[in-house]
Formats: sequence, structure tokens, C-alpha cells
Amino acid sequence: MGPLLYITALALLANISTTLANPIQQEPQSSRPSDSVANCVDYKISLTVTSENLVINTPQWKNDFELIDYLQNSSAKNANVTFHPIGPTTINVTESVSIAATFCSPKTPSASKQDREKTVLITSSGLAYDSRYWDSEYNPSKYSFVEAAVAQGYSVFNYDRLGVGQSQKVSGWTNQASIQVEILASLIQLVRNGNYTGPVGKAKSIVAVGHSFGSQITNVLLTKYPSIVDAAILTGDAYESIPYGGALLEETIEPRIANQLDPKIFGELDTGYLTFVDIYAHVNFFFKAPFYEISAVQYAQSIAQPFALLEFLSTAAYSLKAPEYEGSLFMMAGEFDIPACLGDCVNTFRTQNLTEMFPKSRLIDTYILPGAGHGVNFASNVGEYYGETWGFLKKAGF
Ligand SMILES: *[C@@H]1O[C@H](CO)[C@@H](O)[C@H](O)[C@H]1NC(C)=O
Ligand SMILES: *[C@@H]1O[C@H](CO)[C@@H](O)[C@H](O)[C@H]1NC(C)=O
Ligand SMILES: *[C@@H]1O[C@H](CO)[C@@H](O)[C@H](O)[C@H]1NC(C)=O
Ligand SMILES: *[C@@H]1O[C@H](CO)[C@@H](O)[C@H](O)[C@H]1NC(C)=O
Ligand SMILES: *[C@@H]1O[C@H](CO)[C@@H](O)[C@H](O)[C@H]1NC(C)=O
Repeated sequence: MGPLLYITALALLANISTTLANPIQQEPQSSRPSDSVANCVDYKISLTVTSENLVINTPQWKNDFELIDYLQNSSAKNANVTFHPIGPTTINVTESVSIAATFCSPKTPSASKQDREKTVLITSSGLAYDSRYWDSEYNPSKYSFVEAAVAQGYSVFNYDRLGVGQSQKVSGWTNQASIQVEILASLIQLVRNGNYTGPVGKAKSIVAVGHSFGSQITNVLLTKYPSIVDAAILTGDAYESIPYGGALLEETIEPRIANQLDPKIFGELDTGYLTFVDIYAHVNFFFKAPFYEISAVQYAQSIAQPFALLEFLSTAAYSLKAPEYEGSLFMMAGEFDIPACLGDCVNTFRTQNLTEMFPKSRLIDTYILPGAGHGVNFASNVGEYYGETWGFLKKAGF
């Protein structure tokens, strides 16, 4: 891998999550908390997308010994010179996929702004999570981004990325960013057109909201389709190249083949899907003491989703610079986010140059959530970041 590949792979490795030896996997629920402010509709959406995909060069591992051999090769000091697990070969692939999504709009329209429900936030989770990252069933009045956004008067289109939750499962040897960028682009167009917005009709404004890998596919979207959204909110994300950071993260994650760690839950996935070895690896990557509740982290562990190797390697194939994007941009991360900033977002945010990344953006704001790690939606002070997010949206005119 070249330096850029290496760095992006490192950033992507960030998003990985977990599974206990004996996790409880919950189905996404359409049932809302009894005091919910949202009116929600579930959809199964069939799409046909074409993307230019990377091809894996490394032999497919069949067991964890072979996976570990791969990890050692790819985290060696000279791996960027000697080891090239993906590309440069690409192939154009057209496939039909089924995507599960939930659209939520306010039961009561915003008192302060008419038609605010026609601003639709489209949320993309990071690796290791499905749509429940944005819509926690555990203490939703505190941890559900969907409930908080709808309480402000916005609508939210929350979907399971390809391969997680109730969306279609595909091979972990092919699932990657390029496909998910095209899926996101198609979903945005359908939401604009009012196909999946329940009683709200055509959306007036679209805000793409991502976490980690979800932020990176949103970023690629801004590069490729600069006028497709009106604003973007990138969480758990930053721009920094950290020498050997990828090796450090890879060796710390301790990923295992998901369907061998827990065949009962992950039996339908092939060996290309990986998951954290235990809840402590999850916490190591996603949370920082004392800014989490153990019960929230246990919930996060119970909903953790395996990720594919190519998902965390493939965004490296893109430039994340979006020279033509003119919309507004909000970028935030937890102060001690390991994957995005190697535990020091204050200095990362100080040195990254967002004007260079998004030279035409009409408004760029940043925020660091004090004390938090990577998984900001489950940080114990999550409400502070939600407040900053609504402040940004209002400042941007939504
Ligand atoms: C690791 O590298 C060695 C060569 O140093 C190679 O023989 C082996 O196939 C590689 N393993 C994986 C899984 O890439
Ligand atoms: C894939 O399609 C794009 C757009 O049509 C084209 O530019 C590109 O060269 C194609 N790539 C391959 C590997 O065929
Ligand atoms: C979206 O809605 C339009 C009508 O507004 C309809 O013609 C079209 O088939 C719908 N597309 C999908 C994919 O549901
Ligand atoms: C490989 O990574 C090291 C450490 O970041 C860097 O010094 C070196 O220039 C890189 N080599 C290549 C060929 O990218
Ligand atoms: C950031 O990038 C812009 C555009 O390239 C440049 O004009 C500006 O001086 C840079 N800011 C800093 C602090 O380096």
C-alpha cells in the first residue's frame, strides 16, 4: 500500500467492532419507545447499483490461524512496500441488493420552523454497527440520535448498510465502499423524490450523516456527486496520517472470523467477515473511561455487526478531497477517539485543513466531544454533541 492507502486503511480499521463469545443479537425493531416523538415507517428497498470494485489479492483465510498470518503480514513495518492485499485491479459490477430502512418524522411538526420535517437526515453507520447505532433501544431518550433529531423537528432516513442488520448479506470478500457509496447515492435520490418518506412527501433538503466508515462513504459521495446533498455531518472521522498507526490498530483489534467465533448468530456470513474477539476489544476501540456507561456498552456489544476486510481497506482507493462540494459541513469526533485521531483529536483537528479538503463548502464547523472515544452516540455525554449538531444545522439554515 502507498502511504495514502495505508493511512486510509488505518482510519477504516477504526470502525471495527465486536462480539462477545456469547453475544445477544437483536433484530432491529420498528417498535418505538412508548414516549417516542417519532412516527416511523419500515421499508425493504430493492436497488440495482453499478460500482467499480477492487479485487482482493491475498489468499482467503479459512480459519483464524490464516487470518492472523494476514494480520502479521499487513501490520509489518515494511508492509506498505511488500504487501499489497488489494488492487490495483478493478472490475465494474452491477448487482441487485435489498436494503432495510426506517423513515421517521415528527408526530408534531416543529413549532419554530415550518416544514422542518422536509429536511431529511440520512444516516450511515460505521463498521461493526447497523442502523441501531443511530436509534438505540437502550435508553433511547438519551442515546437515540433518531429520537433527538425528530424532537428538533427533522426527519430521519436510517438504513442498514449492505451486509448488516436486515439488509442483504453478501460475501465479505467483495463487500466494499464503492458499492455502498452507490447505494447511498440511490437512496438519497429516492428520498428526494419522496418514494420512502411516508407522510412527508418530497424532501426539500438532504443532510447526509455518517459515523466512521459511514462518514467515509459520505465523504466519497461528496467527491463523486458534489451536489447530491445540501449538508454533510461527519462524525468519528478526521484527516491525519499517522506513521504505523494502521499496524498498531490492526494488532490491537484482535479480529476473529465471525462465523467461527459465533456460528449460531453469524453462520450465514462467509469467512470474509470479522468481528472483535470480545467486549474489551470493542471498548478499546470505541469508548473511553469514564465517559461511558457499562450498560450502554453492553447494549452496543449485543448489536455489534461483523465487517468485511475490503470495507476497511477499500476507501483507500479514493481521494477524500471534495473540490466541488458547495454544501455545509460539520465534522466532529470524541476527544480521545483512537481510530480517527489515535487518541488525540484536539491536535488532529488543529492540524487538519478542512478548507483544503472542501474549498467551496459554504460553511465548515467542527466540534470535539470532551472526554469521549470513537463511538460518540453511546458516550455518556452524547447530549452535548447532539446539541452542537442541531446548532450547526440551524446556523446552516435548516
Ligand atoms: C504472508 O506473507 C508470506 C510471505 O512473507 C506469504 O507466504 C504468505 O502467503 C502471506 N500470508 C497471507 C495470509 O497473506
Ligand atoms: C468502469 O466503468 C467506468 C464508467 O463507465 C469506466 O470509466 C471504467 O474505466 C470502468 N472500469 C473498468 C475496470 O472496466
Ligand atoms: C418512485 O416514485 C415514482 C413516482 O413518484 C415512481 O414512478 C417510481 O417507480 C418510484 N421508484 C421506486 C424505486 O420506488
Ligand atoms: C512506508 O511507510 C513508512 C512509514 O510511514 C514511510 O516512511 C515510507 O516512506 C513508506 N514507503 C512507501 C514506499 O510508501
Ligand atoms: C488551508 O488550505 C487553504 C487552501 O489550500 C490555504 O489557503 C490555507 O492557507 C491553509 N491553512 C493553513 C492553516 O494551512
